[in-house]
Amino acid sequence: MTVVVRNASAKDAVAMHAVRTRVKENVLSHPDAIALADYERLTGQEGEGVVCEHDGVIVGFAIAEVATANVWALFVDPAHERKGIGRALQDALFKAMKRRGLASLWLTTERGTRAEGFYRASGWVECENASSGDARFERSIG
Ligand SMILES: CC(C)(COP(=O)(O)OP(=O)(O)OC[C@H]1O[C@@H](n2cnc3c(N)ncnc32)[C@H](O)[C@@H]1OP(=O)(O)O)[C@@H](O)C(=O)NCCC(=O)NCCS
Repeated sequence: MTVVVRNASAKDAVAMHAVRTRVKENVLSHPDAIALADYERLTGQEGEGVVCEHDGVIVGFAIAEVATANVWALFVDPAHERKGIGRALQDALFKAMKRRGLASLWLTTERGTRAEGFYRASGWVECENASSGDARFERSIG
């Protein structure tokens, strides 16, 4: 078994979206609510993306947008949760965003989810309610 975290590219869009549609929390309102073009844009100049491959299959990914300092996605296939993949993806994303000159990031997540506990446990600080009613977290990566 090999587990690798590497930079994402536009070629990974389909596999990342497959993970995105398999999660059981923070689910998309509709499979087409985001487009493959969004992944392609944000794994290019406009953002940073990382994927985790398990025996060559993408089982998790994280993406952030440089202009807004927003973590746009952090998703792990439910069959691969609780193995440290979320933490490894987050660490790799922080390094990539630091290289792009950012000192802090923000994100929103649904309340009462595993993700909310994950973020609190890894140093994110809740700042306010997002307009959607989700929790908004910020974190220094400096
Ligand atoms: C949230 C998510 C990314 C976490 O990924 P994961 O691979 O299961 O997380 P990890 O195994 O790396 O866990 C990392 C740490 O968080 C801790 N943790 C996870 N959930 C926790 C919780 N609810 N409360 C406290 N700690 C928690 C783990 O104990 C672990 O701590 P350790 O590194 O000290 O052992 C994953 O569960 C997921 O994709 N959820 C569904 C989609 C989602 O909600 N994504 C976020 C969108 S904003």
